[in-house]
Amino acid sequence: MDFQTRIPLSSSTSFVVAMVLASIFALVLSKTLRSDTEALQALRRSIDPNMIPPSSYISSWDFSVDPCDSTGAKFLGILCSNPEDNMTNRIVSIELDNAGYDGFLTHNIGNLTELTSLDLSRNQFRGPLPDTLKNLKKLTMLSISGNFFTGGIAGWIDGLKNIESIDLSENLLSGPIPMRISELRRLTRMNLANNEFSGRIPDINGLWKLDTLDLGSNMFVGSLPKLPTKLRSLTLSHNQLSGRITELGSLNELRHIDLSDKFTGSISRSILSLPSLNQLNVSFNQLTSIELYNHLGSSSPLQVLNVQRNRLQGHLPVGLVNFENLQVINLAYNGLTGRIPLAYGQRLGRPWRSLFLDDNFLSGHIPRQFNSSSLRISGNLGNNCLNCPMRIPICGGGQRPASACISEIGNR
Ligand SMILES: *[C@@H]1O[C@H](CO)[C@@H](O)[C@H](O)[C@H]1NC(C)=O
Ligand SMILES: *[C@@H]1O[C@H](CO)[C@@H](O)[C@H](O)[C@H]1NC(C)=O
Ligand SMILES: *[C@@H]1O[C@H](CO)[C@@H](O)[C@H](O)[C@H]1NC(C)=O
Ligand SMILES: *[C@@H]1O[C@H](CO)[C@@H](O)[C@H](O)[C@H]1NC(C)=O
Repeated sequence: MDFQTRIPLSSSTSFVVAMVLASIFALVLSKTLRSDTEALQALRRSIDPNMIPPSSYISSWDFSVDPCDSTGAKFLGILCSNPEDNMTNRIVSIELDNAGYDGFLTHNIGNLTELTSLDLSRNQFRGPLPDTLKNLKKLTMLSISGNFFTGGIAGWIDGLKNIESIDLSENLLSGPIPMRISELRRLTRMNLANNEFSGRIPDINGLWKLDTLDLGSNMFVGSLPKLPTKLRSLTLSHNQLSGRITELGSLNELRHIDLSDKFTGSISRSILSLPSLNQLNVSFNQLTSIELYNHLGSSSPLQVLNVQRNRLQGHLPVGLVNFENLQVINLAYNGLTGRIPLAYGQRLGRPWRSLFLDDNFLSGHIPRQFNSSSLRISGNLGNNCLNCPMRIPICGGGQRPASACISEIGNR
């Protein structure tokens, strides 16, 4: 008995002694890895001192104390690894405030190999992003949006093996998206919008976790790339993309589609019957038809349909009235002909709250519900060939001259 209790007693005593010694050593030795401190110093030195406001995070970076050993209002915007793991602390997070810092990113950033998040967004950083970024294998979040960074991403982006969210939007970045982007298997969110990226968009159907993709307002060319099936939000507008959009009809999770490019062909039935699709904005393309059948739509969550400024021909699709949740419809600036279906009248105001059919070649009388003083809808039927008295507000600024109507409708 006595013997048995002595062993745990003595081992727990030595454990306590070890703990005390360890914490004394930790107090003395716990310090930021030297090259991590140097990387922070280099970042601070790269910023124009006149662009470091007195109350900003970076003005609190006081290198007379150790970054990970500092307390109070020092070294705001950084987080360190837990010192229990290791006697040497590492920087794991840099998330700067939007203080307007005017600087650049130095090569030393690649020494911060324990970094998991880096956020420099909404400042005035400029110059190229150093290739040493590829050493940040543990980075899960990178946001540099809203700066003036230039140059390409091909030299470093495929090194970010753990990246989940990448936001490079609103910079001056250029060059292609490298094919090897598809190796970043953890990506869920990628935003490269509002840059000068060019070339073809590589196939990224291998990024099976990707949820949100925004490549809008760049200079991409070519056709739709192969996209991952889990994608929920797709923005490719304001590029030079062309070809058909039919393949989107197989991406069953899509909720939001925004394309304004040079796409041709039709809005296929498979797209309109996507089970989660809420917003479809394919305005400013060269699409010629909407494949709508009457049985389509009843349970569709579609709320917004924007097909303005395309090359739609033929009659207005009656089937739109079957989309129970549809509220906003814009088919303006197309080549649509024929009457406004009587069924449209019953949807006005409830649930339809916005209906733009202006600048087509629609003709005939308007359904009587359009002439109601209690109509709560924004819309326009102007510049068609309708019998639409100007004192009815939705009739807008008048119709086309008869000559334009006869020749256009006569040609169809
Ligand atoms: C632990 O400390 C050593 C230096 O003593 C450093 O090289 C290493 O990266 C650190 N590991 C972690 C996980 O912080
Ligand atoms: C830190 O980065 C610089 C520039 O990339 C490099 O020359 C240096 O060797 C690195 N230091 C360490 C300790 O890794
Ligand atoms: C649709 O896209 C156009 C062109 O990019 C844009 O101007 C418009 O605001 C978008 N509309 C909706 C409802 O998303
Ligand atoms: C519109 O309604 C008003 C009042 O309800 C009626 O007097 C008028 O004749 C109608 N106009 C047309 C074009 O149907």
